[in-house]
Amino acid sequence: MSEQFRSMEEHTSLPYDVGTVDPYTRARVLLMVAIERSSVLAKHHMARSTDHDSVKKHLAVIRRAESLQLQSLGSLIPADETPLETAIGLEQMTVDLTANLAQNEADDYFKQVLDFALLEDLDHLFRFSLLYEMAEGGDAELMTRGRTPIMAGRPTAVQHRHPVDELRAHFDLGEVPLRTLMNLFTITSVEQEKMLFYQNAVRAYPEQLIRRLFGEIADVEEQHLSQYEALGDPHITPMEQLVLIELNEAYNYFSAAQAEADPAVRRLYGELMGQELEHFQLAVALLERVEGRDASELLGEAVVPSLIELRPNMDYIEAVLATQADLQPFDGEFIPEERLPADWPSFAFRERMNGRGSSADEVERRMPRERMPPS
Ligand SMILES: [Fe+2]
Ligand SMILES: [Fe+2]
Ligand SMILES: [Fe+2]
Ligand SMILES: [Fe+2]
Repeated sequence: MSEQFRSMEEHTSLPYDVGTVDPYTRARVLLMVAIERSSVLAKHHMARSTDHDSVKKHLAVIRRAESLQLQSLGSLIPADETPLETAIGLEQMTVDLTANLAQNEADDYFKQVLDFALLEDLDHLFRFSLLYEMAEGGDAELMTRGRTPIMAGRPTAVQHRHPVDELRAHFDLGEVPLRTLMNLFTITSVEQEKMLFYQNAVRAYPEQLIRRLFGEIADVEEQHLSQYEALGDPHITPMEQLVLIELNEAYNYFSAAQAEADPAVRRLYGELMGQELEHFQLAVALLERVEGRDASELLGEAVVPSLIELRPNMDYIEAVLATQADLQPFDGEFIPEERLPADWPSFAFRERMNGRGSSADEVERRMPRERMPPS
């Protein structure tokens, strides 16, 4: 492990060029930042509820390595990328990531949950893009370069739901393929990352409208995080979780490295993937030693048959939009809004949240007509 700790200089990357960076290079950096932050935070949480000496020591060492990996990735993002530009990058990444996960998800219910959130993050990309033009005179199309549609999804104003309406039925660890577990760990990390980023970004601008939109969308990301968390098997043991987190990190680096054209970034992914394989092997050994379990019970052959790929998904997104825009969750299932009972908890909650107007609606009202997508 000692070679994973180097001088701070070596843990600090040179930033990409905000004007020329490939949209998916940026998206993969944001994805890996999310994966790493989630790994660091999970290890902090685990350390608080174990009294096992070797687990505590293991977590202390690996957590520090994860934190340094996070810094190597975070320093790829240049100082002249504004919070609104990062928000657009995050939502572009989430839209194409969610579409990729949904198309490679064997569990029908999980796929439905992904499709449901896809249309909400699509709308966030649209609202942030309007605000970007209004506030910074920027054109989000120059960032996404036509790869991801910038269009209205399920309107953000109707995304505010009562917290209990974010509860979902969970799957069982033994009954889903490994790709499902990788999908869950990946999307949960990403929704958490956006929640944290937007919660912090409420202080990044002086204009009240921008502060409100970051807050409004941060709240939806909190909902998305909650719904994905609810999907996971609550009977998972701490060491099973540790093994799967490390495997998911390695899997995401491998996926990202395959697609990455920037040589320096690709090299970094290769290097960090090597570190993750070491974390994974150590975690497997702990699972066996601490919980007396054989990793093959959890992982089978430990083969994930497909990679996570960020690429355009126009047709898929349009098909989901055409058939599912009016869905809302009720009792863990998704039904058209018109069929919801009048006492659906989210009706009153939504009214309360939008009581003084939705900033997401307001950015749309304030933008010139010619920038609006065809309705
Ligand atoms: Fe890591
Ligand atoms: Fe979003
Ligand atoms: Fe989201
Ligand atoms: Fe790791």
